[in-house]
Amino acid sequence: MNDFEAQLPALIDALAHTGWVVYDDFLSQDQATALRAEGQRRQQLGEFHRAAVGRADARSQRDEIRGDNVRWLDPQQPSDPEHAYWQRINALQGSLNRELFLGIREGEFHYAHYPVGSFYKRHLDRFRDDDARVVSVVCYLNSGWQTHDGGQLRLWHDPDQADHYTDIAPQAGRLVLFLSERYWHEVLPAQQPRWSITGWMRR
Ligand code: OGA
Ligand code: MN
Repeated sequence: MNDFEAQLPALIDALAHTGWVVYDDFLSQDQATALRAEGQRRQQLGEFHRAAVGRADARSQRDEIRGDNVRWLDPQQPSDPEHAYWQRINALQGSLNRELFLGIREGEFHYAHYPVGSFYKRHLDRFRDDDARVVSVVCYLNSGWQTHDGGQLRLWHDPDQADHYTDIAPQAGRLVLFLSERYWHEVLPAQQPRWSITGWMRR
């Protein structure tokens, strides 16, 4: 059992009580660095594409809404650096099901790269016509991130209170979980290239 697995019950408890949680040691600094390098390698191979908004017929690329590039992970063919990620994600999924009965059956996860100056405007991770996404799972890969690098995840606690939010820096190794249905959120403009693996536990 690694440290993350030992912390899982407390983490799940926090998620159940407040609907969101931050955990700083999901990945070691070395693991986060290796995953960022792996993302960069895949990007150089041309495996990334511009992220879109909306679903099916309504899908479109909208620079004024989001500016990230993504590459979906394939759980069937993990590369070496991706093993540590999947091991932890599988443990997380098992715990969520055992302890919260969320009925999660699968996950979908992608690398996301935000070039300098890009952002993702306030949104919900649930599509209007699809309630499959239950828990949003964001893991950051940025070593030495500073406050002036921007790129914080802004999470609103109440959609009707504009000033009631928490800003979370995209520090290497950090994990953020929140209920996809409940939390409006935004990625503030990044002043450095910003790397993450973002995903959703689905029922
Ligand atoms: C998303 C998203 C948050 C982040 O990809 O839907 O909101 O901090 N990501 O990267
Ligand atoms: Mn989102």
